[in-house]
Amino acid sequence: MTPKGKGGAARSRSGVLDSAARRARIDPEDMAAKIAGFPEQLRAGAAIADSAVRGIDPTRPRAFVLAGMGGSAIAGDLLRVLADREGVVPVHVVRHYDPPAWIAPEDFLLFSSYSGETEETLNAFRSLKRIGCRAAVLASGGTLAAQARKEGLPVALLPGGLPPRAALGYSFGALAHIAHHLGVLSDADRRLEEAAKAVEEKAATALLPGVLQSRNPAKRIAIRLIGHPIMLVANHRTLEPVAWRWKGQFNENSKHLAWVSSLPEMNHNEVDGFVNPGAVIGRIAAVLLRDPEDHPRVARRFDWLTGYLKKRNLHVETVMLEGDDPMSRILAGVSLGDFVSYYLALLNGADPSALPGVTALKRALQK
Ligand code: F6R
Repeated sequence: MTPKGKGGAARSRSGVLDSAARRARIDPEDMAAKIAGFPEQLRAGAAIADSAVRGIDPTRPRAFVLAGMGGSAIAGDLLRVLADREGVVPVHVVRHYDPPAWIAPEDFLLFSSYSGETEETLNAFRSLKRIGCRAAVLASGGTLAAQARKEGLPVALLPGGLPPRAALGYSFGALAHIAHHLGVLSDADRRLEEAAKAVEEKAATALLPGVLQSRNPAKRIAIRLIGHPIMLVANHRTLEPVAWRWKGQFNENSKHLAWVSSLPEMNHNEVDGFVNPGAVIGRIAAVLLRDPEDHPRVARRFDWLTGYLKKRNLHVETVMLEGDDPMSRILAGVSLGDFVSYYLALLNGADPSALPGVTALKRALQK
């Protein structure tokens, strides 16, 4: 469904998705190739982290904490959900200047900033001496990598020249390798390879720009989302971090408003909010990201919500992730969302690589 009165315009815009020349005009920096490179990045993660890992004492930490922002934090969220489901070490993500007061010498801190210049992460790094725990750095260079080297800390050096959000395969692959070394995640390399293979196959057969709209679910979802503010709904214990990735990619690549609503929490408040403002409610599209291993009661909540939101005139999309391993499903969800955000960028006529708001804000804060 497209918003009332806009169906014709939306349909005519959708021609851009199957035209290589029109895609190239809106995407001069080729974000599509970076998104398509995700599985290769996942495979490269272990080699990137290898020399850092050799410098890390493998004693299992009390907690594993990743400090980072935006595209450099999301790998930590993905690890968090895997650790919550199957691990023995809690994983926390710190998106702030100050690490929480409870971090102690028995914990492990990973500072992740693709540019190595993000002020929140650099400030958090300065607390390290006071805390006195083991630590490592994930960066493509910059002040963070230089400081870490000066202090003799292990650095996993990511390949440079990418927008941070387009380096998630590298950062998650490297993080998984480090987490495996510390006993935070099991069997990381084999699982990464299997996930990379599945993501690659799905992209080649169904998601890449060369696959026409009629056979490409990512293009079709993007077309249905034109003109709608997007609410992403996911289970906190399974796919919530994937929903956050979709949200970030819709914001940054597509220049499109989106937010995350977490289950079961949103059933205890937000469900009663779909009334006012009336003019806005019927314009919202809800994307329900479902996992076959969602708690059975959460699955029932998803079913109920589908009918309820439709009655409230929201457009509802359901995505059920596939694969045997939760890691594969999470990474398949990331890849699908990245492609949807890319096609929505084209439909919005927005260069997926440009970040005018984030860049202006960073510049203003430097003054
Ligand atoms: C840009 C992006 C941003 C950055 C964030 C932090 O592609 O995704 O969310 O990741 O501004 O910058 P870095 O990653 O350099 O620490």
